[in-house]
Amino acid sequence: MVEISSSGARSQLRHLWIVSSHRAVFITLWIVGFMSLFLWQRRSVEGFGIFRRAPSPAVVDWAEFDLREFGGVGDGVTLNTAAFESAVTAIARRGGGRLTVPRGAWLTAPFNLTSHMILFLDEGAEILGIEDETYWPLMPPLPSYGYGREHKGPRYGSLIHGQNLKNVIITGNNGTINGQGKSWWIRYRQKLLNHTRGPLVQLLWSRDIIISNITLRDSPFWTLHPYDCKNVTISNLTILAPVLGAPNTDGIDPDSCEDMVIENCFICVGDDGIAIKSGWDQYGISYGRPSTNILIRNVTLRSVVSAGVSIGSEMSGGVSNISMENLRFWDSRRAVRIKTATGRGGYVRNISCRNMSLTNLRIGIVIKTDYNEHADAGFDPKALPVIENITFTGVYGKDVRVPVRLHGSNEIPVKGISFRDMSVAVSYKKKHVFQCSFVEGRVIGTISPPPCENLDIYDEQERLVKRSTSQNNSDIDYDL
Ligand SMILES: *[C@@H]1O[C@H](CO)[C@@H](O)[C@H](O)[C@H]1NC(C)=O
Ligand SMILES: *[C@@H]1O[C@H](CO)[C@@H](O)[C@H](O)[C@H]1NC(C)=O
Ligand SMILES: *[C@@H]1O[C@H](CO)[C@@H](O)[C@H](O)[C@H]1NC(C)=O
Ligand SMILES: *[C@@H]1O[C@H](CO)[C@@H](O)[C@H](O)[C@H]1NC(C)=O
Ligand SMILES: *[C@@H]1O[C@H](CO)[C@@H](O)[C@H](O)[C@H]1NC(C)=O
Ligand SMILES: *[C@@H]1O[C@H](CO)[C@@H](O)[C@H](O)[C@H]1NC(C)=O
Ligand SMILES: *[C@@H]1O[C@H](CO)[C@@H](O)[C@H](O)[C@H]1NC(C)=O
Ligand SMILES: *[C@@H]1O[C@H](CO)[C@@H](O)[C@H](O)[C@H]1NC(C)=O
Ligand SMILES: *[C@@H]1O[C@H](CO)[C@@H](O)[C@H](O)[C@H]1NC(C)=O
Ligand SMILES: *[C@@H]1O[C@H](CO)[C@@H](O)[C@H](O)[C@H]1NC(C)=O
Ligand SMILES: *[C@@H]1O[C@H](CO)[C@@H](O)[C@H](O)[C@H]1NC(C)=O
Ligand SMILES: *[C@@H]1O[C@H](CO)[C@@H](O)[C@H](O)[C@H]1NC(C)=O
Repeated sequence: MVEISSSGARSQLRHLWIVSSHRAVFITLWIVGFMSLFLWQRRSVEGFGIFRRAPSPAVVDWAEFDLREFGGVGDGVTLNTAAFESAVTAIARRGGGRLTVPRGAWLTAPFNLTSHMILFLDEGAEILGIEDETYWPLMPPLPSYGYGREHKGPRYGSLIHGQNLKNVIITGNNGTINGQGKSWWIRYRQKLLNHTRGPLVQLLWSRDIIISNITLRDSPFWTLHPYDCKNVTISNLTILAPVLGAPNTDGIDPDSCEDMVIENCFICVGDDGIAIKSGWDQYGISYGRPSTNILIRNVTLRSVVSAGVSIGSEMSGGVSNISMENLRFWDSRRAVRIKTATGRGGYVRNISCRNMSLTNLRIGIVIKTDYNEHADAGFDPKALPVIENITFTGVYGKDVRVPVRLHGSNEIPVKGISFRDMSVAVSYKKKHVFQCSFVEGRVIGTISPPPCENLDIYDEQERLVKRSTSQNNSDIDYDL
């Protein structure tokens, strides 16, 4: 542990005081000494002051710890759970600190973080999750899900876990957190697991979180799961899992979260790249926490089995005010997918997407209202989700089979959807490539391929050209 202190300066002051008998010098030095002590105190409390060494205020003032000081061994074989736990305890006791994980392979069982903590993964550092499930603690189901996602009852906790925390940073010099998920995926497929698999990193009921500049790979289940958190910044992450054979390895799952930024990331995984959620059916409705105020920008996404960005299907607490801009989707099944079902309740509202690039996809933009996967039979079939005010501005692409499929229904119509400036070259048939059913909305400006007849048509200056008379037509063709 390296303490940052100004005791050197203070002993120098004491020495000068002894050799000088001059009263004015004594008073001056007292004032200088008092001032420097005051600034030092203030600096450690607020991360502010004239002695700052680096531009990032959160990092500098906290005690520095190194995993090796706690007996950590980075040989890929030694189990480091006790080292991580002692380090976290030391940081908690001191009220804050930065734990560096140096170059090496650091095998560990799941461990908890604490508040006011920086977990820093140096270049070449890799935290490895132990594969033996008996080391993974079981936790109660999340209240807005009622169950583990795959099995009833408790679920495995995450490799790196936190609850009720404040001010946590997980960052580094592109070090890696590796869940070694392969054995989990195999056991899951062989139905050898009795509980829902654990995520790689999960933070519950926490705020003021930054996760940046690292790589997350091969999670057993969802990779990064912030649940009911506030003020979360996720930046410059690489998230990887095999695109096939790695079930449910979503990249980032903002779940009942508020005030969040996801930016500058590269995500290529075995399920959804980003999946915005807010709880499941009656459990999510009664928990009642929406995901809202989320900005996603400059992210490159690939998902061969699902979608680059999904909203839902668990969205029962509501999802609103989501902005997506400058996203790139490639070699994937779908780009953006909003999925819900009767029984979900909640809403998906005020969503805007700007400047998306699609390359080699099966489907571009999808809304699906019959995603009938329920926690149990206790859902309320009269709890109908609302889908409205969703805008797409600037959708560009090539080699896309079906650029748009908006599948509303009589019970769950899609309202207030709009497309402005779209140019997507289709790779397949020329008919039925902009599919709609129970959709109300409009297109503005140049739209290629030509839109479905459910939508009103406006010109570049937003003047009405033609109002639709067939909003409830259905043109959905799942064979395409
Ligand atoms: C980690 O946190 C969870 C939730 O607070 C708690 O149940 C568990 O005992 C903690 N584990 C350790 C090793 O402290
Ligand atoms: C992203 O993180 C890497 C280290 O992982 C760093 O070298 C690079 O400068 C970061 N880029 C940005 C834009 O922060
Ligand atoms: C970080 O490491 C990953 C995995 O090795 C790599 O794909 C990525 O390009 C690296 N990022 C930076 C900024 O060096
Ligand atoms: C699952 O439960 C069965 C029956 O109780 C038990 O034999 C098996 O060991 C359990 N598997 C795991 C991975 O816990
Ligand atoms: C959000 O979190 C960041 C980083 O932890 C912090 O600097 C900032 O003050 C927080 N913002 C609010 C509004 O709490
Ligand atoms: C990521 O790393 C870059 C380069 O070291 C640094 O400038 C930036 O502040 C880091 N970003 C975050 C959010 O930690
Ligand atoms: C976009 O994100 C990538 C990392 O994925 C980064 O290298 C690049 O600088 C970012 N671009 C902008 C405009 O921030
Ligand atoms: C919508 O979210 C953005 C962040 O992406 C935030 O700045 C804005 O205030 C939010 N709008 C409302 C109405 O809450
Ligand atoms: C959607 O946006 C409108 C206009 O900004 C606002 O009045 C409404 O409260 C928003 N709805 C939600 C659920 O955020
Ligand atoms: C659109 O997104 C691309 C990345 O896909 C980016 O290079 C370009 O600068 C963006 N354009 C605008 C106008 O933001
Ligand atoms: C639609 O959502 C956008 C945010 O995406 C918001 O600015 C706008 O006010 C909303 N319009 C209505 C009619 O709610
Ligand atoms: C379309 O169906 C909705 C019910 O989903 C109904 O309220 C509406 O009047 C219908 N619109 C037309 C133009 O038939």
